[in-house]
Amino acid sequence: MGQRKWRVAVSGIGWCGCAHIKAFQKHPRCEVVRLHGRDEARVRRNLEQYGVSGCRAEIVTRVEDLFREGIDILSIAGLNSTHTPLALEAARRGIHLMIEKPVARDAEELDRLVQGVRAAGVKTVVSFELYWNPLLKVARWLMESGRLGRVMFVRANYHSRVGAWYSGWDWCRTREEGHSMLLNAGCHAVDAVRNFTNDRPLAVSAFHTTGWEQGYEYPTTIHLNIQFAQGQLGQVSASADVATPYHFGLEIYGTLMSVVNQYLRWPTDAQVSVEELQKECPVPDVRFFLEPYNERFSQIRVECILPNSVSVDHHPFLDEVFALVDAIERDDETPLSLERAAITHRICFAADRSAEQNGVPVAL
Ligand SMILES: NC(=O)c1ccc[n+]([C@@H]2O[C@H](COP(=O)([O-])OP(=O)(O)OC[C@H]3O[C@@H](n4cnc5c(N)ncnc54)[C@H](OP(=O)(O)O)[C@@H]3O)[C@@H](O)[C@H]2O)c1
Repeated sequence: MGQRKWRVAVSGIGWCGCAHIKAFQKHPRCEVVRLHGRDEARVRRNLEQYGVSGCRAEIVTRVEDLFREGIDILSIAGLNSTHTPLALEAARRGIHLMIEKPVARDAEELDRLVQGVRAAGVKTVVSFELYWNPLLKVARWLMESGRLGRVMFVRANYHSRVGAWYSGWDWCRTREEGHSMLLNAGCHAVDAVRNFTNDRPLAVSAFHTTGWEQGYEYPTTIHLNIQFAQGQLGQVSASADVATPYHFGLEIYGTLMSVVNQYLRWPTDAQVSVEELQKECPVPDVRFFLEPYNERFSQIRVECILPNSVSVDHHPFLDEVFALVDAIERDDETPLSLERAAITHRICFAADRSAEQNGVPVAL
């Protein structure tokens, strides 16, 4: 493509859309050229409020104008009901896609989206961006290098008391837009479990409940169990009810070593060297510290950027942008393609169905 930059449009200029803009601005071969919101003054106010500077993109308020000539990539970061229709229209026009979660709100929307994007052949990345958090990268390296042994069981938690502080407070509590605790938030934890398990989920069973009456139109606590092919098990809990600071918990239990949040634990008779881990670890800016545990188990604390903030400015959207641009330039798939994200969404749909039937397992 010579020196021309990839021309990016962003739809939905809120908290998350502004974080996308900042990430695209940091990519050397991207230029944000068009912004789509429903009201120009509100778009300008949000750009300022969320710290976007140096953006000279035109602002459009009509979908027809969003899709005028001159766009290579569309980032979809508006309300959830806009994700599927905008993505389908963009794909039809050969525009590559960065799509916020949830990409679709039910199986019918998801099927249409997957089929349309598949037929168009455009590149996609879906914002389960914790995939690029350094702790998850370290854990993937430990697993892929065989250091965990066989991963038996993975648990992830997404606990966040989303309240009136959140810019999307009005829409996220509705069935129409937020839809369910999993689609609104917990899908990040479901996707994290999938990083460490076989890619073929077989069945899901779930229970949900509500504890914090804040106008949500759906239950705000859900626990689910996932059975994967080859015997691996996954478990997710997601809650907006509990009085805890934002918590994204990740536990990966292997037959040789386990990862419990930022700690690695293994039986003391196994040979694990902190120096060897430090030397071999391919993830930058990670430090390993041996700490006392007990006589039978040893522990290493992993120091790196943790998945411990609800703020979109903490999320690795820049890595997501790099993955999409690399996929476009190399004619490859991103690790978080729509096809892959569709499986995470299907687990969420199945869990919501199971919870509505009081835990009856739903096959996938
Ligand atoms: N991946 C993550 O970690 C993460 C984190 C937070 C949010 N998200 C996702 O990002 C999306 C936006 O969330 P947010 O937190 O940024 O919420 P937000 O601050 O409320 O922003 C939503 C934006 O969408 C715009 N909008 C509303 N209706 C629209 C329409 N019909 N067409 C185009 N734009 C429309 C709104 O602007 P106007 O009213 O001015 O049009 C608003 O600026 C959601 O899908 C959410 O699930 C993902």
